[in-house]
Amino acid sequence: MYILLNGEFKQKNEVSIDVEDRGYQFGDGVYEVIRVYNGSYFAMKEHMERFIRSAKEIKIVIQHSAEELTGMLNELIQKNQVHDGAVYMQITRGVTGRKHLFPGKDVTPQIVAYPIPCSKPVKEQEKGIKLYLMEDIRWLRCDIKSLNLLGNVLAKQEAYENAAYEALLHRGEYITEGSSSNFYGVKNGTIYTHPANHLILNGVTRMKVADLCRKNGLTLAEERLKVDDLKTLDEAFITSTTSEVIPVTEIDSMKVGEGVPGPVARELQRLFEEMII
Ligand code: PDD
Repeated sequence: MYILLNGEFKQKNEVSIDVEDRGYQFGDGVYEVIRVYNGSYFAMKEHMERFIRSAKEIKIVIQHSAEELTGMLNELIQKNQVHDGAVYMQITRGVTGRKHLFPGKDVTPQIVAYPIPCSKPVKEQEKGIKLYLMEDIRWLRCDIKSLNLLGNVLAKQEAYENAAYEALLHRGEYITEGSSSNFYGVKNGTIYTHPANHLILNGVTRMKVADLCRKNGLTLAEERLKVDDLKTLDEAFITSTTSEVIPVTEIDSMKVGEGVPGPVARELQRLFEEMII
């Protein structure tokens, strides 16, 4: 497998990461997961914009332009002959002795990108999933796609241990998002999802779904749902790069609506599929 490391393509066994990389020690960096369908990236522009924004928010200067990076990522999937899958890309603040303060300008950020396996979660998309509700204990800049994912990792693990596919996070009485996905609840024909602010990651899939809603006469309201609202929902679903659109049929031990995938989720799955082929 070829890995892109700071602008150069290397075989995986030729790449070594320094123990004093700040990504390793502090989680001091940001990342993206970009889906590849039929040998091409899906929504590259949006992912690249978010990557650049995330880096800027934590004051990492990326040494390549968006066009250069996109070109290298294209070469990466050609070299690795990725037809269907995904690419993981991360940038860290660089390698230096372990001190909290930012290093000087002589320390260059480290960019790594490589293909990761990714296939459609067909069973979940078809049958729907169960979510496990828990308090959102993450920091207050969830809009940054930070390498620091402890809050997300702990939530996903707890959901898994409670036989759920994904965690549904709430801050006090308000629902925010999943541990690695955005959440939507449908009531009386309106789709509700948390506004894109510092409390959630503005998913690329979320932006695409918002476009699909606009173009197809579905009403999407970027308004917070309360935990209490969950029991009155007609249906629910989640979205992410790797999940696409997955209906939610159960939250904790409560059925959502009829407890089967709802018509809005089905319609969005159909429209999403149309968009990617
Ligand atoms: N996760 N919210 C969180 C907290 C996420 O980690 C993700 C994505 C999303 C959905 O974003 P997008 O539609 O751009 O994938 C929302 C990625 C896939 C991951 O960490 O693997």
